Amino acid sequence: MSAAPVPEHIAIVMDGNGRWATRRFLPRVAGHKKGVDALRACVRHCGVRGVRVLTVFAFSSENWNRPADEVSGLMELLAVALSREVPQLLAEGVRIRFVGDRSALSEKVRNGLAQAELATAGNSRLAFNVCFNYGGRWDIAQAAAALAAKGEPITEASLDGAMALAHVADPDLLIRTGGEQRISNFLLWQAAYSELYFTDRLWPEFDEAALDEAIADYAGRERRFGKTSEQLAPPAGKKAA
Ligand code: IPE
Ligand code: IPE
Ligand code: MG
Repeated sequence: MSAAPVPEHIAIVMDGNGRWATRRFLPRVAGHKKGVDALRACVRHCGVRGVRVLTVFAFSSENWNRPADEVSGLMELLAVALSREVPQLLAEGVRIRFVGDRSALSEKVRNGLAQAELATAGNSRLAFNVCFNYGGRWDIAQAAAALAAKGEPITEASLDGAMALAHVADPDLLIRTGGEQRISNFLLWQAAYSELYFTDRLWPEFDEAALDEAIADYAGRERRFGKTSEQLAPPAGKKAA
């Protein structure tokens, strides 16, 4: 029997940091800090399990609408995490890329993103995409605008190539922690055929065992891409239609 398939590309909506903190009578930013710890462990475990691409939702286009101190806390956390985590990413062969609209970010944060990307550009074991100031609608609109500006036709293939995540294949498995069962403007275009996995576990508590559970669940899915079951598993001796 062959080993159960591991998803090549896992995408995660890391939700539940605020509730994790509130339940402990801590400020919400303490939950985000704990969330960075969970993310560090998740990146490492993806490498161990042979996942090739990890894409996480860290800050949505709509998260600007949160209280100002939470927004500035998240920006600060990003800046600090970046400088602290790069050595580990290098040691583990991780290539980090930031996906989203950088124009609204401070120069300090923008420089930090560019430096982390440059420092890890030679790595290829795990492609790690951090969606920050990202929205699925933003991505589709910016891709269409880029094509229109060049006078190029808008087709599924050309749009696909102009998306901010064009450097990786679509996610196989999309996980959302924190109990909500919605996409919240994450990978609207790319998740067309992703397997969805929702867990009540809050992001700061999403550990290696929880990731393994999600991967095991994925292994039991039948991905049909519009075909029938019979087409996927033809009787012995017959060729797939
Ligand atoms: C997700 O956790 C992280 C971000 C959106 C930045 P939340 O902060 O949304 O946590 P909950 O949903 O309020 O618990
Ligand atoms: C989605 O979580 C965005 C991130 C995890 C970065 P939200 O907490 O912002 O989503 P909603 O508001 O519950 O849909
Ligand atoms: Mg939330």
